[in-house]
Amino acid sequence: MPTSTVATGAKPLENMTYWQRTFGCQMNENDAERVAGMLEEAGALPVLTIEEADIAVFLTCCVREKADIRLMGQLASIKNIPPAHEEKRIIAVGGCIGQRDGELLHEQLEHVDVVFGTHNLASLVRLIKARIDTGLPAIETAEENEGFASSLPVRRDKPWHAWVPIMTGCDNFCTYCIVPYVRGRESSRTLEDIQRELSGLAEQGIKELTLLGQNVNSYGRDLYGKPRFAEVLAMAADCGVERVRFVTSHPKDLLTETIEAMAAHPTIMPQLHLPLQSGSDRILDAMIRKYEIAHYLELVQQLRDNIEGISLSTDIIIGFPGETEADFQQTLDVCEQVGYGQMFRFIYSKRSGTPAATMQQNATREELQNRFERLEAVAQASSLAENKREIGRTLDVLVESASKRDARVLAGKSPKNQTVHAPMPEGQDIDAFEGRIVKVRIEDATTNYLQGSLEQ
Ligand code: 5AD
Ligand code: SF4
Repeated sequence: MPTSTVATGAKPLENMTYWQRTFGCQMNENDAERVAGMLEEAGALPVLTIEEADIAVFLTCCVREKADIRLMGQLASIKNIPPAHEEKRIIAVGGCIGQRDGELLHEQLEHVDVVFGTHNLASLVRLIKARIDTGLPAIETAEENEGFASSLPVRRDKPWHAWVPIMTGCDNFCTYCIVPYVRGRESSRTLEDIQRELSGLAEQGIKELTLLGQNVNSYGRDLYGKPRFAEVLAMAADCGVERVRFVTSHPKDLLTETIEAMAAHPTIMPQLHLPLQSGSDRILDAMIRKYEIAHYLELVQQLRDNIEGISLSTDIIIGFPGETEADFQQTLDVCEQVGYGQMFRFIYSKRSGTPAATMQQNATREELQNRFERLEAVAQASSLAENKREIGRTLDVLVESASKRDARVLAGKSPKNQTVHAPMPEGQDIDAFEGRIVKVRIEDATTNYLQGSLEQ
C-alpha cells in the first residue's frame, strides 16, 4: 500500500486496487471509462468486488429521486465493509450528486473521502493522492467545464465501442429537470478537437461510436453562434468507423440538415432517440419543452420519409404536475401513432430547485400506477410490432457477448439497436465473434429481442 513515503517517480496509486460503480446516463458511462483509464495509468488494478478494493469510485445520478435515495443508502451501507488491506478504503463520489452536494456529502457521510464533480473528472487521481498523503477529505467541484474527458486516458468497456462527447451541459431548463443545474451550461468541443479524436478511432479497432451530449443538436451554438451538429455527424460518418449513433436529440432543435446527413450516410444507423415527454401540448408548455405535438409529428414524418425503416425511441414522463387523464390519453395516442421501437417510461419525480417542484402534483398513486401500466402495454405492443417486421430479413449484427441464458448463443445489436440472438457454430465460442459484424437471418421476434441464424 502506498503512503506519503512513495518514492518520487513511482506511479501515484501503484499496488492499489480499485472498483467502480456507475449509475445514470451514457455521459457517466463515458466518464467511467475515463476513470478506469486514469486509475490504471496511475498504477491501480481493477478488482471485481468492493471488498477487494482499496479505492471505490461511484459515478452518480440525481435525475430521479428514487435512484438518488437508493444511492445515498448504498453509500451509507458500505461504511462497514472491512478494508481490503490494512488502510482505510478510499470512497470517491463523482457525477451529478458529487457536483450537487460537494462538501455536504462528506458532512452527511463521513466515510466519503473524495468528492469530485461533473466538470473536474481529470482531478480524480490528484484528489485521491491528496487524501492518501494528508488523511484529510479531498473535495473539489468546479463551476465550469475544465476540459473534455476525451483527452484523458481511457479503458473501454467494450473495446470496439467509443463514446465521443461533443458537448456537455444543457441550456433548456425543462421545468422538471435537474440536469442544467448539475451539468452546467452548454459547452461544445471544437470541430478540430472532435476531428482529431475521430480520426484515430478506426485504427484502434472501433466498430461503433456514439456521439454524446445532453442536447447534441445544439452542438456548436456556444462556439460558433449557430448549431453545427450536421457537420459533426458527417465527419463521424466518414471517419472509417462502421457504425455511428448519437444521443440525445431535443425535438425543438432537430434540423432538416441533420435528417439529411442521416439519410446521406449509410454508416449513421437508422435509429433516433427523440424524447417526447408528453403527448399533450398543455403539459409540454408547462414543461417548457418549446415544441408542440404537431411539430413533433411532422419531424417523425420527415424522418420516416427520408430514412428507410428508421427506428425511433423516446422518453415519457408520467404524472407531471397538472397531468389529467385527458392529457395522458393524448400521450398514449401519440405513442401509438408514432410506433416507437423502445420507450423509456418515468414516473414524474420532484427535484428540489427545479421550477416544477413548486407545482401541485394531483394524480393519486393508483392513477400513476394505472397510467404506467397502460403505457407499458403500448410500449410492448409497438416494440413487438417493430421487431416482427424484421422476420425474414438478414441483418448486420455487431456481436457484443454470449447470451446470458446460453453461452452457445451470441448476442449483438442490429442497425436499429435491437438485440439479436443467434446460435454459434458447433465448436466455436464467443471470442471468435465479439466485436465483429456478422450477418444474421431473422427467424423469430419477441418484445425484447430477435432470434435468427448466422449466415456465412
Ligand atoms: N422526473 C421524471 N423523469 C425525469 N426525467 C428527467 N427529469 C425527470 C424527473 N424530474 C427523464 C426525462 C429525460 C430522461 C433522461 O429522464 O424523460 O428525458
Ligand atoms: Fe433536462 Fe430538458 Fe436539458 Fe434534457 S433538454 S437535459 S430534459 S433540461
